[in-house]
Amino acid sequence: MTISQAALGAVTKASFGKMPDGTPVDVYTLTSPGLEVRITNAGARVVSILAKDRDGKMGDVVLGYNSVDGYLAETSKTYFGAIVGRYGNRIRNGQFTIDGHSYQIPPNNNGNALHGGPHGFDDQLWTGTPLPDGVEMSLVSKDGDMGFPGTLTVHVRYTLHGNALHIDYAATTDKTTVVNLTNHAYFNLSGDGSGTILGENLMLNADAYTPVDAGLIPVGGPKPVAGTPFDFRKATAIGARIGDANEQLKIAGGYDHNWVLNGKPGELKLAAKLSDPKSGRVLTVTTTEPGVQFYSGNFLDGTKLGKTGAPYGKNSGLCLETQHYPDSPNQPAFPSTELKPGKTLHSTTVFAFSTEK
Ligand code: BGC
Repeated sequence: MTISQAALGAVTKASFGKMPDGTPVDVYTLTSPGLEVRITNAGARVVSILAKDRDGKMGDVVLGYNSVDGYLAETSKTYFGAIVGRYGNRIRNGQFTIDGHSYQIPPNNNGNALHGGPHGFDDQLWTGTPLPDGVEMSLVSKDGDMGFPGTLTVHVRYTLHGNALHIDYAATTDKTTVVNLTNHAYFNLSGDGSGTILGENLMLNADAYTPVDAGLIPVGGPKPVAGTPFDFRKATAIGARIGDANEQLKIAGGYDHNWVLNGKPGELKLAAKLSDPKSGRVLTVTTTEPGVQFYSGNFLDGTKLGKTGAPYGKNSGLCLETQHYPDSPNQPAFPSTELKPGKTLHSTTVFAFSTEK
């Protein structure tokens, strides 16, 4: 895979293959004493994260492919490790209105728009700029791209701080638009290709979640998690209640919902803590976003072979997508996703790794 490797401080760049039109694709390797993270400019994706287990052994804890070819070959999209946008998660019927103007995003998920429509930011070749401790991925999305108004300029910075991967998002527009950016990494703390995440313990810092309709769009507003299988306020094994006779779990084939995070939107606060009894690895997620979409990898069906050659079956990884709530452009009671000219969207999420006995 590595054709040439240019040293860029703690960051190195190598070839990750080519786009169908022959454009070269890069992969950047970020290294700190406890972490090694690879990021490609194809979809601004996280390709791998090597983190220590309780014995100090490094293991890859995210799902993905060994070159850009794997991502390009997907016939049904997983969004492995990608920055999704302009609008992470769903917009009902792909429609919304801003200042009296109606906009239509081409529906790509049961009549709704998912992750910015059929060719979202995951499909784009971003521009990578190495930083002393990371890499910045930049993209200019044209006015009308996938039906969204305004030229949107996006910068996503991935930087390493000890055992933590920081993701800082910035976006500006020249027309009022809606934006919801997140990273779609699938974690498996036992290791990529090692089986399911059902035995990993999850804590979500949320008293409420947003129940969904059959199309996985929130309906009826936030509801308390208390007394439901959606109560992760105390760390609980993901598999403990995933098979419960619960209408919401049935609709999604497991967990695929937005949790309303406790604390103030805009302030960096605890969102989630995932721990793995097998390896001792712990992932702590903090964010400035108001919500987190916990998706338990329900639609992975074993047809895709990952970096280790093992098939990615149901629940072989999970996503903790820190973001605004799904369908916010149509739900005025939700925190707003509108971005106006002259304003800059700023958002930060930190994935910090540690171990326990
Ligand atoms: C969504 C899932 C979807 C997955 C992959 C998640 O963010 O909530 O419903 O299947 O992304 O597209």
